[in-house]
Amino acid sequence: MTDAAKAKTQTLHGRAPKGSARQKTVASFRCVGCGALTNSPEQNFRCIACGDLLEIFYPTWTSADGRAHAPDPNVLKQTWLQRKVSRESADESGVWRFRELLPFGDDEKIISLREGNTPVYQLPRCARSAGMKRLFAKHQGMNPTGSFKDTGMTVAISVAAQNGFRWVACASTGNTSASMAAYAARGGLRCLVLIPEGRISWGKLAQSLDYGALTCQLRTDFDGCMRVLNEVMKQFPVYLLNSLNPYRIEGQKTAAIELLEQLDWQVPDHVIVPGGNLGNSSALGKAFLELRELGFVQSLPRISIIQAECANALVRTMQENGGKKLIPVQAETLATAIRIGNPASWKKAVRVLEATGGRCEQVSEAEIAIAKAEIGSDGVGCEPASAVTLAGLKKLVRNGFVKTNDHVVLVLTGHLLKDPEYTLKFHQGELFDPRDAQQEAKLRVHRRTPQVLDADASAVLKLLEQSGAA
Ligand code: F0G
Repeated sequence: MTDAAKAKTQTLHGRAPKGSARQKTVASFRCVGCGALTNSPEQNFRCIACGDLLEIFYPTWTSADGRAHAPDPNVLKQTWLQRKVSRESADESGVWRFRELLPFGDDEKIISLREGNTPVYQLPRCARSAGMKRLFAKHQGMNPTGSFKDTGMTVAISVAAQNGFRWVACASTGNTSASMAAYAARGGLRCLVLIPEGRISWGKLAQSLDYGALTCQLRTDFDGCMRVLNEVMKQFPVYLLNSLNPYRIEGQKTAAIELLEQLDWQVPDHVIVPGGNLGNSSALGKAFLELRELGFVQSLPRISIIQAECANALVRTMQENGGKKLIPVQAETLATAIRIGNPASWKKAVRVLEATGGRCEQVSEAEIAIAKAEIGSDGVGCEPASAVTLAGLKKLVRNGFVKTNDHVVLVLTGHLLKDPEYTLKFHQGELFDPRDAQQEAKLRVHRRTPQVLDADASAVLKLLEQSGAA
């Protein structure tokens, strides 16, 4: 093979030839409020001029004379496919496989658990129940720690390590902390977790303990944990890993890139996402916008964001002032992952709704529980917060925003086993007040109560008979 051919093959596999590793993708930080630019953000990742959040942008992709440096979609689509057969650890990650669209060079050390690479499933039963011809789900709960957080965490933790931090920290409803704890352990960093006492699932708490985090259960809610963390950060040098860290958003973008690749770059009509602190909807929206800008695709999916009825800060903000000023709420929902009343990334999420023409909807606790059982009966399963997507889709179909033939992808954010207590209580009839007869009748259809029987074959056979087995 000639040297030129060798170099080409190596680049295709993402391994730059020795001595000529791919340069770091040029990136800078921009305030989403006042537009101020900076190259070195503050510890709290907020704009020093106005206090708003920062986002990463890539000046060479857009500036008139920088066009020449913009990545070539056709070359990259090929490169990313080729990496699927590579054994390099960066290539085996469904995040780092797309590293040309991240602010990293090939030389930089990364901390990875082979995150991403999550499946897209068809959900035939859920499609029927929502009145759709077909329905798809991108299951981000199939990440190494069981939630979408891993895709952002691998990037942000790698930055923390490169910058020499010894401690990382987050406030969490349980999934961010589980993910951070795992990646910190892999990278040899210490980590501080602040979670609301008694209000996160024990599965998520167990993960944080097992991965070795210093875990504090505070007598407050998520928003209270965030306030305390801000105070701690002023007095102790920790690296903040909540989703206001813009590197997390960059990593979470890759789920949208991977999804489009899985759909052979056919853009779906709708992508439906749960909304909590609103980092994920912001990240997916940013990815779709960048991919269109770079010419990977010509159109955008409408991104709709679904919240629980009593944790509906974005819904109220959109309804009551068209997204101009956040209306925080006192959040309450059994879908504890999205029990957030003061979402940090609300402004970024509003921009995504506006840019893509999506809707923001709210769903009730019973609607969430039924949707979750339906996703389960397609053999897929998810945690309660993820099920808001199906519950929200049903509303969007009913009000005509989504049409029966549309191509819709639900983003399932967490694994079924993240919150087994919720699932058990639902099927045992203990999640809701049984005195609400109308609600009870709707729930009963979806309930699959475990049967306690004597250790006797005839008892099991009788049950089979009653269940319609001929
Ligand atoms: N789904 C799951 C399973 C989550 O854990 C979260 C957020 C969301 C949806 C909402 O995503 O915040 O980006 O809008 N969990 C965070 C945590 C807040 O601390 O684990 P978002």
